[in-house]
Amino acid sequence: MKHLLAADGLDPRLATAVLDTADELKRTLLGRQVRKLPTLRGRTVITLFYENSTRTRVSFEIAGKWMSADVVNVSSGGSSVSKGESLRDTALTLAAAGADCVIIRHPASGAAHRLAGWLADTGTAVINAGDGMHEHPTQALLDAATLRERLGSLTGRRIAIVGDVLHSRVARSNIHLLSALGAEVVLVAPPTLLPPGVDALPVTVSHEFDAELPGADAVMMLRVQAERMTGGFFPSAREYSIAYGLNEKRLKMLPEHAVVLHPGPMLRGMEIASAVADAPSSAITEQVRNGVHVRMAVLYHLLAGEEEK
Ligand code: CP
Repeated sequence: MKHLLAADGLDPRLATAVLDTADELKRTLLGRQVRKLPTLRGRTVITLFYENSTRTRVSFEIAGKWMSADVVNVSSGGSSVSKGESLRDTALTLAAAGADCVIIRHPASGAAHRLAGWLADTGTAVINAGDGMHEHPTQALLDAATLRERLGSLTGRRIAIVGDVLHSRVARSNIHLLSALGAEVVLVAPPTLLPPGVDALPVTVSHEFDAELPGADAVMMLRVQAERMTGGFFPSAREYSIAYGLNEKRLKMLPEHAVVLHPGPMLRGMEIASAVADAPSSAITEQVRNGVHVRMAVLYHLLAGEEEK
């Protein structure tokens, strides 16, 4: 693996190898057999964030540090980006300064692919930490890790992805990864919050949340991205909550083994009731914990792992 830019097209054998590595790292680190691995000593990892983030940026920083890499954080506000420096010049500057890997979050879909193109001759790896409404592949990997932990194999499991699918890079990455790993994905959303071209995706579509609950092995609630809802006909917060919010009544309609996920940040009381977010079937905190081990595994496969066949 040279870069990790998207879940779409990611070889399921490679994805499984990353998930297996993450499981192994979690066992090792949580068992406190070791606290820190020397694997990436001497490597430099740079996070380059043009959008706010808590989970992704922090977990990449922790992942790099637990692998003994030198981690440098760059944000658009505190760098020469605020003086007008282009993304291309910023990327080339970071590569020239010695970055072995640049982890980028950017509001423009396709930014990570552009970066990888510009850095092609430098040997610097690129990880997409979320680009516009396009993809967030490490989120999908950590979601798959969490589902495997709770459900075992994903083969034949029915996963409902619910809410603002249109604006969600998390949904897009999960659609591709979960279906490649053998799960059935159903999108549950109003017509105005589904993406164009949904018919070409490996999913079924439903507008009726209640009808999907009894058959779901997992429900992945999405963040409502009000900041991206410019123009168009979107439901009000109250309408959304009534039709697509996961409340306690709906939780009871799920099978007992079903898992509740949310990538965060979550709007409690609107997308998901507080009591549901904190219920035993919720794996939301586990998703964050797994995010560190999955991102360690991604760094390992990019910077230290042998080339996969
Ligand atoms: N899930 C996710 O990407 O969260 P952050 O925006 O906090 O990184």
